[in-house]
Amino acid sequence: MSEFEHLADVADLPDGALLGVTRADGTEICLFNFRGTIGAVGNICTHAEFYMSDGTLRNDGTVECAWHGARFDCQSGRACRGPAEDPLPVYQVRIEGTRVLVGPPAEVKAA
Ligand code: FES
Repeated sequence: MSEFEHLADVADLPDGALLGVTRADGTEICLFNFRGTIGAVGNICTHAEFYMSDGTLRNDGTVECAWHGARFDCQSGRACRGPAEDPLPVYQVRIEGTRVLVGPPAEVKAA
C-alpha cells in the first residue's frame, strides 16, 4: 500500500500518548507523540505479538511493551531491550491540518 490514510486526528495524540489504529488492509499501527512529533510504528510486538499501544512511551524515546518489557526506539523501530530481537516496522506520517495520515513503510537506516 503506498497511499496515505487518515487514521487519527492530532487531538487524539497528546504528548506522550500511544494510540492503536488499523489500516484499510488490516495492518495494525501504533501512533505515538514523542515530544510533539507524531510518528507511527507497527503495533504488534515482535516478541509475542502484544499490542504496543497498550505499553508506555518512555522519556528516552522508546516504546515499552506492557507484557514482557521489550523496548523499541520509536524513530527507527530498533529493538533496544529484550526479550524482543527483531525491530518494529516504521511508517511515514504526514500531518495535514488536524489530520494524521499514515503512509508506506519508512526507510530506516540501520543503527
Ligand atoms: S510480547 Fe512484547 S515483550 Fe513479550
